[in-house]
This record gives sequence, C-alpha cells and structure tokens, in this order.
Amino acid sequence: MSVKKYIQDNQEKFLNELIDLLKIPSVSADPKFKDDVFAAAEFVRSSLEKAGADNVELCQTAGYPIVYGEKIINPELPTVLVYGHYDVQPADPYELWDSPPFEPVIKKTERHPEGAIFARGSADDKGQFYMHVKAFEAMMSNDELPCNIKFMIEGEEEVGSEHLDIFVKENKEKLKADVVLVSDTHMISLENPSVTVGLRGLAYMQVEVTGPNRDLHSGTYGGAVANPINILCKMIASLQDENNHITIPGFYDKVETYADDYRKALNDAPFDLEAYKKELDINDVHGEAGYSTIERVGIRPTLDVNGIWGGYTGEGAKTVLPSKAYAKISMRLVPNQDHKEISRLFEEHFKAIAPASVKVKVTPHHGGQAAVVSTETPGYRAADLAIKEAFGKKAIPTREGGSIPICSLFQKELGLDPILLGFGLDTDALHSPNEHYGVKNYYMGIETIALFFKYFKEEASK
Ligand code: BES
Ligand code: ZN
Repeated sequence: MSVKKYIQDNQEKFLNELIDLLKIPSVSADPKFKDDVFAAAEFVRSSLEKAGADNVELCQTAGYPIVYGEKIINPELPTVLVYGHYDVQPADPYELWDSPPFEPVIKKTERHPEGAIFARGSADDKGQFYMHVKAFEAMMSNDELPCNIKFMIEGEEEVGSEHLDIFVKENKEKLKADVVLVSDTHMISLENPSVTVGLRGLAYMQVEVTGPNRDLHSGTYGGAVANPINILCKMIASLQDENNHITIPGFYDKVETYADDYRKALNDAPFDLEAYKKELDINDVHGEAGYSTIERVGIRPTLDVNGIWGGYTGEGAKTVLPSKAYAKISMRLVPNQDHKEISRLFEEHFKAIAPASVKVKVTPHHGGQAAVVSTETPGYRAADLAIKEAFGKKAIPTREGGSIPICSLFQKELGLDPILLGFGLDTDALHSPNEHYGVKNYYMGIETIALFFKYFKEEASK
C-alpha cells in the first residue's frame, strides 16, 4: 500500500485522534491546567510510541516536559528533526466561543468549505504537529520511511519556551540532524500554498504606573493629583508618532532595509486587501507609513498594547482616582534587533518619559529573536518539491508576523535553518475565540509532510 493511500484510508482515524488530543486543555500559561498539560505530554508520548518511534521519553525540565522520540533507520541517511508544541493559549474569553473550546466540533466556513475543527489549539499547534506523527505512522506502516526522524515536541511554546534553551544547548548530540521541520505557521491558501521564510521576534513587557499611595475620591483630588491611568495612556500614545513610527530612541538602529526588488517580490504574493478588511470588519488598515500590509507584518517591527487595566471596571460608576495603572506591551521585532537590547531601550525610554508625579516600574517578560531562513537549502527545496507534488503549484516564500523563538536557537545552537512548513490560514483565529483548523489542510499537510521526507532524502544527498 502506498503512503498516500494509507493516509487517505485512515483519514477518519487520524481526525478522531486529533479530536481526542484537542479535548485536553493544555494551557501552559495557567497553573490551573497543570495536570492537563502533563496529560497532553503523555498523549504525545504514547502516540509517538504507537506510530513506531523508538526511545520515546518525557524529558523533564524545570517546567513542562519535552517529548522526544526517534527512528534511526540508518545512521548514514539524513535526519529530520521535527519540532512542535502541545501546549495551547488560554481560551478566555470563553463567552465569545460559539462552542466550548475543549469540545471540538467540525463546521464549514467560507474559507473551509469542506469543514474545520473548532477547538483551542486546533491550528496552533496540535493539529499541525500531529500531522507529523501521522505522516510518520503512514511511512512506518508502509516500510517507507526515507530518512531518520527525531521528534521534539515541547509544552511551553506559548509562554516563551523558557526551558528549551538549556535543553537544546545540553542535548546537541541527541538533537543532531540535517534539517528542522516545523509546522506552526500559516500558508496563504490551499490554492496558493506558501512556505514561511521569516518570523518576527518578540519583546514582551509589563508596566506599572503608580500615582498616589491609595485610591482617592476623584472629586476631592481630581485635577490636583496625577491619575496613573491618564498618564499611562499619554505615555503609551507617545510611543508612536503620527506616521506610526516607534519613538523609542535606538529602536530602529539595527532594522534592515530591503532593496526594492525584494519588497516587490513580497508584495507580489497573492493578497486581497478588501477581503482582509471585510473578514476583520474594519474600514481601513492601519500601520507604519510607507509600507504595505504585507510589509508591515513581515519585515517591519511594531509595538502593541496587549492589555491595559486599573481603576474601577465593575458595574455602574465609581468616582475614583486610582493609585495604579498597568499595561502589557509587546514589540514584534525583525532580524538583528536583539530582544534583550530592545527591552532595555524600552525600559530606559519609558522611565525617561514618566512625569515626576508618578512612579514607573517596568518588568520584561519573555522574548525571542526573529528568524529568517534561506531558500537555497536542501530543506527548502524539499519543501518546495513536496508542495509542488501535493498541490500542483510552486510554493510562495512568505514572511510572517508571528514568533517562534526556538527557530533562531536552532540556527545558533544546531546550525540548522528550520523549514516552516505550516498549513494553517491567517483567518484560523489563532489565540482568538473560535480557533479552527481546516480538515482538508490537515490531510493535505500529512501528505505533504510525507513527500517532504522523500524529497529531502534526494536533496540532502545531492
Ligand atoms: N504558532 C505561533 C507562531 C505564529 C503565529 C507564526 C502566526 C506565524 C504566524 C506560535 O505558537 C505563537 O503563538 N508564538 C507566540 C510567541 C511567544 C513567545 C509566546 C507569538 O507569536 O505570540
Ligand atoms: Zn501560538
């Protein structure tokens, strides 16, 4: 039986298994779900074992375990290291989901006329890394695994992969491979398949602005004492100028500028601005002057407030001048911008712009470097050939705005350019209510991944 036929014959089984995995609320950010995160790790361990992997283990870290497994058929053959994550983002706010986030349902959508699985983690990243487990099963069942394979599936990606750094550094021999394969990104569409060649980095900060030592009556004191929420809003507003350029001194110092032909090639990728606006129900897009939407997301850094709070937000009204105000602020970075340096620049600037009437505390959270990968590698060529065979079209290289901090670590520590072979769509609502993943994307992904192995063996030996 061919690998392709095995995949087609087992579609229902593959889907049901994914549904079982999606029922586990493995939210790494919230300690309330600790047991579930461990349960998801165990699910992955057992699924790798069932698919035919050897030396499967839960590698303990100071946080959640990394699931490792391998199949070394011949040490002379090239080795593919598969990376993915079994943790998911918090599902809040639950009330905005049309169906409960951990009770997967399949529904048709405009972009997924053949159905999509709605559940937290369906596209990011359970539905995507599980395609690799199933492609592996299909190749093993047909005795047609062309290369060696190693799996490294972690449980802390959504909280910054804090313990992965040390794991990779301490296990270079164990993780030795010829390419890293990751499915945790998007493609343009099934009609326009693409491979991601760039991801942004991230610097995430929390700020606290303190005014008076206690909440005050806003009549007695209002107008005479600094209101930390008012001040925080002004400070945040000043971080971008009228061209939506970030005002932090030194922020752009290392940002690469691109030649016109590179920018043109990026902008030549299929992109329907009207459909983009319609889908988000916005009248216009917004961003740095002088750049297109594709460029704003792909090659330019940005700054966003992720949350802001303070004062009274309950029912009705309370006249209060609060003592404190807070915000969580993220900066998406591009290659050469070091996230630690940017965090430092942010902190210095944010403290410098605070008026004497308030005190400011800045706490850097997690971060990660951007990554750009070459299209001139055996891995990229294999991805291109696999897509060509599965979709009948050449892959379009794209640069995406999200971050997978481990990618730059792979480049630095293992000397490997990760191949970002993702099958989600940007409308799949990652991190949002009603996250979903196309059933067809899932099956096409499994087929394409199996083809990647076939072509990687050929390309790596050229
Ligand atoms: N799968 C995403 C990364 C991604 C999203 C890549 C969209 C390309 C397009 C990943 O799981 C993720 O969400 N990463 C975090 C990074 C982090 C350090 C918490 C992100 O981008 O916010
Ligand atoms: Zn994510």
